Amino acid sequence: MESCAIILAAGDGKRMKSARPKVLCEVLLKPMLAWVLDGCRAAGIQNENLCVITSDRPEPLWPLLDGGVQSAVQAERLGTGHAVRCAEGFLRKKRAEGVREAAVLCGDAPFVGGELLAESLRAHRAGQNAVTVLTARVKDPGRYGRILRGADGAFRCIREAADASPDELLIDEINSGAYWFSIDYLLRALPLLQNGNAQNEYYLTDTVELAPRLREKAGAFCCPDPAAALGANDRRSLAELNAAAREKVFGALYDAGVDIPVADGVMISPDASIGRDTLILPGCILKGRVTVGEGCVIGPNTTLIDCEIGDRCTVDSSRIEKSRLGNGVRVGPFAQIRPGCEIAGSVKIGNFVELKNSTVGEKTSFAHLTYCGDSDFGAHVNVGCGVVTVNYDGNAKYRTVVGDGCFIGCNTNLVAPVRVGKGAYVAAATTVTEDVPGDALAIGRVRQQHKEGWAKAMRAKKPKP
Ligand code: UD1
Ligand code: CA
Repeated sequence: MESCAIILAAGDGKRMKSARPKVLCEVLLKPMLAWVLDGCRAAGIQNENLCVITSDRPEPLWPLLDGGVQSAVQAERLGTGHAVRCAEGFLRKKRAEGVREAAVLCGDAPFVGGELLAESLRAHRAGQNAVTVLTARVKDPGRYGRILRGADGAFRCIREAADASPDELLIDEINSGAYWFSIDYLLRALPLLQNGNAQNEYYLTDTVELAPRLREKAGAFCCPDPAAALGANDRRSLAELNAAAREKVFGALYDAGVDIPVADGVMISPDASIGRDTLILPGCILKGRVTVGEGCVIGPNTTLIDCEIGDRCTVDSSRIEKSRLGNGVRVGPFAQIRPGCEIAGSVKIGNFVELKNSTVGEKTSFAHLTYCGDSDFGAHVNVGCGVVTVNYDGNAKYRTVVGDGCFIGCNTNLVAPVRVGKGAYVAAATTVTEDVPGDALAIGRVRQQHKEGWAKAMRAKKPKP
């Protein structure tokens, strides 16, 4: 059965001391809001069933709201209950479509994952609850809302820290800020919320106390892993979330047979997948959706962003972004593969080589000091030192095409658009401006002259020191 989710993200970055919305602060280089959205997707909630509550300046969030994710604006921050009310239109629409339950999640609590959402939804349904609060027992309950239970242990209500008595503040079971609601109940309860509390806010948490009055049931689902409830309000807590996430990601990688002998200075995205026997050396950053195959050596000092690396590759002190590499590719030291490259197996990309928006066939070698942009290099091409594809005339970009088995001599300029036919040979220092026929030799350079004795005569003219 389909469900939907509302994600509260109208907060600013004041306590983060950030100019951007707080939910864009990153944990392992991934915005907290993206963690929450991905958690919902992992629980099977589709984009069109996700609604993000934004402030009246939502522009910075737009890149995360693609693919049909809905949003609603909360122009004034009047509390979490008010924020959810801003999504009433969304809730009515979903109900009309036959959706019965809505999760409400905080955009600044990244670890409520898909499994926990699915598990708590099962408990919510099994208990026939109108609202199920995800709670956690924590060592330092700090500013979290406290879970108040009756003498029989039954869940009564949530008390905000600002409104709590000293005794209530001792309670270590807290409100994670994540809930499952029956949409029917939520739409009935929201208009009844009042703001007569210490913060003069409309508290979403008051929907718990309202339930018995509306002849409905409120339940609490205590998260088995209290880390799921962790949120970040400032940079210090953000650093703590990073440490917790990092430990989890590394743990999973160790379990998968990945070797990270010295984890200092290594950052790996939660969306990375790495094959067994791959070695990750210090100073590596794997950001976004990165896939690395088996038996690779990555690093030291390597950045991989949204890319796919095959098996048995080595990438030393280099940067690869939005590109795909086949098996057995050797990169670096000090190479850069910019977005849009498709690199076949056993290619060599040596020191000070830059590739961009290019395809490269098997076993081709760029050993050193080359720029290859907007190009298609075939297989078994030998690219000499200092070769440059001249792809830009100041207005537009043009492609260079080099056929299989070519030899491109050192210090060659390939002025695009230009094609070098299969098996052709370009002599060193040639500037190729016209297509080269297959199997031909292209040579275009000034013939060398010798002026006998010139250097000696010049030296003779110099005054002696
Ligand atoms: C809220 C809960 C508290 C819980 C805590 C978990 C209420 C009244 N209290 O606390 O019980 O322990 O979360 O973190 O709900 N937001 C809006 N609009 C608003 C107010 C908040 O979008 O008007 C968003 C914030 O951006 C944030 C989330 O809602 O993502 C939680 O708000 P925050 O102020 O951090 O939580 P508290 O009110 O302290
Ligand atoms: Ca608050």
